[in-house]
Amino acid sequence: MYAMFSLKTKNIHSLLQYQHSWRCLALGNSGSRLVLGIESSCDDTGAAVVDETGAVLGEALHTQKEVHLRTGGIIPTVAQQLHREHIEHVVKEALQRSGVDPSQLSAVATTVKPGLGLSLGVGLEFSQRFVRQNNKPFIPIHHMEAHALTVRMLQPVSFPFLVLLISGGHSLLAVARGVDDFLLLGHSLDEAPGDSLDKVARRLSLIKHPKCSTLSGGQAIELLAKDGDRMRFPFTTPMGQNYDCCFSFAGLRNQINMTIVKKEAEEGIERGTLLSCVSDIAAATQHTVACHLAKRTHRAILFCKANGLLPSLCPTLVVSGGVASNQYIRKSLSIITEATGVFLLCPPAKYCTDNGVMIAWNGVERLREGRGILLPHADIGYEPKAQLGVDLTAEVKAAAIRLPSVKMKI
Ligand code: KG4
Ligand code: ZN
Repeated sequence: MYAMFSLKTKNIHSLLQYQHSWRCLALGNSGSRLVLGIESSCDDTGAAVVDETGAVLGEALHTQKEVHLRTGGIIPTVAQQLHREHIEHVVKEALQRSGVDPSQLSAVATTVKPGLGLSLGVGLEFSQRFVRQNNKPFIPIHHMEAHALTVRMLQPVSFPFLVLLISGGHSLLAVARGVDDFLLLGHSLDEAPGDSLDKVARRLSLIKHPKCSTLSGGQAIELLAKDGDRMRFPFTTPMGQNYDCCFSFAGLRNQINMTIVKKEAEEGIERGTLLSCVSDIAAATQHTVACHLAKRTHRAILFCKANGLLPSLCPTLVVSGGVASNQYIRKSLSIITEATGVFLLCPPAKYCTDNGVMIAWNGVERLREGRGILLPHADIGYEPKAQLGVDLTAEVKAAAIRLPSVKMKI
């Protein structure tokens, strides 16, 4: 049952390629409808052309991560300017690589919610001009729905399934029941896990560490944690007394900050200088984040089972978003899925993070079902804040499910 999870990444890639070629042979590419996807909700400008079989015909991505790493976080006006500078050539490149002429497209799909308003605006404005010039239908996309369904482009995963989305901007637990049918079980009450890891990494000045200068905060913490002793700093896992599926990372970050201040005083160093115990703090941080995510996910699985929200045959948890590429966090989640008899799926890192492919695929899913397809001249705006699906968080809280103890031997 867990064989899929233990497959090496290389094998997964060849398996996915095989599945694609098989699907292409079975359906034939010639009759397949083509969707151009455009993503600009945060700090990545992405575009891709995907066909109905899930074959990626061409893609291009411009990432701003390095710029934001230097400035210590995303400055929305800088992100907007960079999207403006890159969107045209990113879309052109994706089209050129696919060998598809705009006239051959069946639709254009673009992220319109949620995200940074200034960034979303660039993608939407460009797309509206493009669909009007080329007289193509327009499909507005919810960024988190797209993350949740990307896995279906890679392998046959039927609805309903449970999804955990963890990134720099989100922490969500939801049941995906259909292309535009989601039940929200939990969300973050303050910051997202990736944001917390980035902030801890900045507070530790990991950018000055020789092994971490080009890594995102989360990547730096994962790398350093490998050599760290997590037992040196026993941080408290957040929300132990809240029996729901929501998340909170701000209190944990406060615990970590207080430890850093104490250690700086003990070592007699200034803020901004690397502590000798950075690896131990990284290991303890990563472990506590992993335990928090695993516990909330465990409760979500039990809630779904108690309410018949997942199929009894092969219930599945899909984990995606930038933080999902963390191997330690994946392992913590696999302990929970093994204990509860759930199948764990995680798209390859390339598709966990933001890209145009996932937006194009969501366009394909909507096109196939005829949902949310607009005429080229339809008037539509972007929405920086947008909930995912029907909010069941109050019902989850009311159920107050107590968790059986599970040993987190990671
Ligand atoms: O999904 P993503 O590329 O962008 C959005 O936030 O939408 O996620 C980026 C986040 C960053 O906060 C980064 O620190 C985190 O994902 N991240 C990781 C790892 N790689 C990226 N966090 C933990 N472990 C990693 N290996
Ligand atoms: Zn994202």
